[in-house]
Amino acid sequence: MVGKKRGYNTLHLTLASRGPAMKFDLDQLVSDCRKAVRENAPQAPISEILARSLSDRASLVSALGEPKRAEMQKLYQGSDLTILNVIWAPWMTLLPHNHKMWAVIGIYSGREDNIFWRRLPADSSRRLEAAGAKALCEKDTVELGEDIIHSVTNPIGRLTGAIHIYGGDFFGVQRSEWDAETFLERACDGDRMARRFEQANTFLRRTLSRDA
Ligand SMILES: [Fe+2]
Repeated sequence: MVGKKRGYNTLHLTLASRGPAMKFDLDQLVSDCRKAVRENAPQAPISEILARSLSDRASLVSALGEPKRAEMQKLYQGSDLTILNVIWAPWMTLLPHNHKMWAVIGIYSGREDNIFWRRLPADSSRRLEAAGAKALCEKDTVELGEDIIHSVTNPIGRLTGAIHIYGGDFFGVQRSEWDAETFLERACDGDRMARRFEQANTFLRRTLSRDA
């Protein structure tokens, strides 16, 4: 556990899966998570549920499809939870952003590197500073506190697939992102994020055609 430091809220990393492999079942994942979210402290049980869901990669990929392009697939969206299949293009980076709700992330293919940021006082020359980092590999899960600010990079030359579970309606809240060069805070824009994924896909297509 990484303790709280000035705006750098808690996160908890679990390396690889626990226990025997379990066949992936999307309906079961959604059902189990919706049941767990009604508990007082739902992140830990949902992290366990997600870890079990990642334990059999072949059945997960059979159910969700082999990652082919960068995208965010909605597996479940409700007022209680959002569950996404997030696929990162090679070397793709997403700007620092917040969620305003807790999250649990688990990797089923590839790598996802997270930089965690904390806010700096308003009179500082910069608005954010890096506070920590975690490299997530296949079957790793991480629990993020509701005030976490992070940026995400896929550092490898192939697609990375991850299941992201959020403790509310991820698309129903006004969130922030921070400009990559100026670190200025601005409202998260769904269209801008969608363009970022399409830019990454364009880069991926060019790379694949160049290497063919
Ligand atoms: Fe995020």
